[in-house]
Amino acid sequence: MIDFSLFPSPCYIMEENLLRKNLSLIKSVADRAGVEIILAFKSFALWRSFPIFREYVQASTASSLYEARLALEEFGNKAHTYSPAYTDEDFPGIMQCSSHITFNSLSQYRRFYPAVQAHGGISCGIRINPEYSEVGTELYNPCAPGTRFGVMAEQLPSLLPEGIEGFHCHCHCESSSYELERTLVHIEEKFSRWFPQLKWLNLGGGHLMTRKDYDVEHLIKLLQGLRTRYPHLQIILEPGSAFAWQTGVLASEVVDVVENRGIRTAILNVSFTCHMPDCLEMPYQPAVRGARIGAEGPYVYRLGGNSCLSGDYIGSWSFDHELQVGERIVFEDMIHYTTVKTTMFNGIHHPAIALWTKDGRAEIYRRFSYEDYRDRMD
Ligand SMILES: Cc1ncc(COP(=O)(O)O)c(C=O)c1O
Repeated sequence: MIDFSLFPSPCYIMEENLLRKNLSLIKSVADRAGVEIILAFKSFALWRSFPIFREYVQASTASSLYEARLALEEFGNKAHTYSPAYTDEDFPGIMQCSSHITFNSLSQYRRFYPAVQAHGGISCGIRINPEYSEVGTELYNPCAPGTRFGVMAEQLPSLLPEGIEGFHCHCHCESSSYELERTLVHIEEKFSRWFPQLKWLNLGGGHLMTRKDYDVEHLIKLLQGLRTRYPHLQIILEPGSAFAWQTGVLASEVVDVVENRGIRTAILNVSFTCHMPDCLEMPYQPAVRGARIGAEGPYVYRLGGNSCLSGDYIGSWSFDHELQVGERIVFEDMIHYTTVKTTMFNGIHHPAIALWTKDGRAEIYRRFSYEDYRDRMD
């Protein structure tokens, strides 16, 4: 159990034991299925923890020059890079830091392939759009009509342009192996005629294999089947969420309790919009330790952020006692898509970032100060 008294408030606290549990599971899937599973930095990039990751995974993805640099300089390996559009300014740096570069369009590929060829040692891919995704939330559906992501089968020439060695496809979000199974039918139906021209197939992220009810054995069978059908293809998966899923919390505290027309709000020293943005974007109501989601009972509260945004709150949680100023409120599962997305909007204190080590120590990765706020601007 985390000893919260050893950490600053507020603080993101990742638990090393939980992280290692996820990493072991992911490594065993990769080993048993004979595929490569790499970490998507967009969901998680706490580089001080990369030495732990490196015991289990060899590579990572990048969506930009900075993520690619982080891969090379902090993860210690060249990145599998994909960006919706590369710029002339960033591309030379991206080449230096990448083993694989996936292009979103044929026009981008044509524009940058000569530079890749001159550079040497980089494997190029193109993002494909299978026009099938079971992701219900429009914000997260890369296959919605009008999407800016990927090339449709009808847009690809039967002979791929020289130098394209891989297809990259991302159309999952917190998805099951059964969604992958149905998606693979569409991918193979539309795109397998090009597979003989390829060396690798990257099935993107969104494979939430560390979720309790995920059918890991089914995933392994699916991937083994894919490898049997296309033995020459290296299969790559690049989940993000699955790595950091349920590996830690955001610990906050109550600063004030206000009431308006019968609704009580506990104002916290954190903010949904600044520190837990997916709660408002997705949207979803996170679990809070010791509270039930719902409005039944005598101690029902909204939890509100300490920003100026009127909508910076979520309701309702039911506690078993009256909340007090100074009391700790612990949001569960706040490690993926948090620290990579936070802002210093309103100049609100950014939570510290820390690890609760496997031998019960508080390792504080980072504290934030006024200078961090000031130095993002000029
Ligand atoms: C291209 C690509 N790869 C990988 C991921 C990681 O997905 P997840 O964190 O859901 O596993 C994403 C997420 O948006 C993505 O866009």
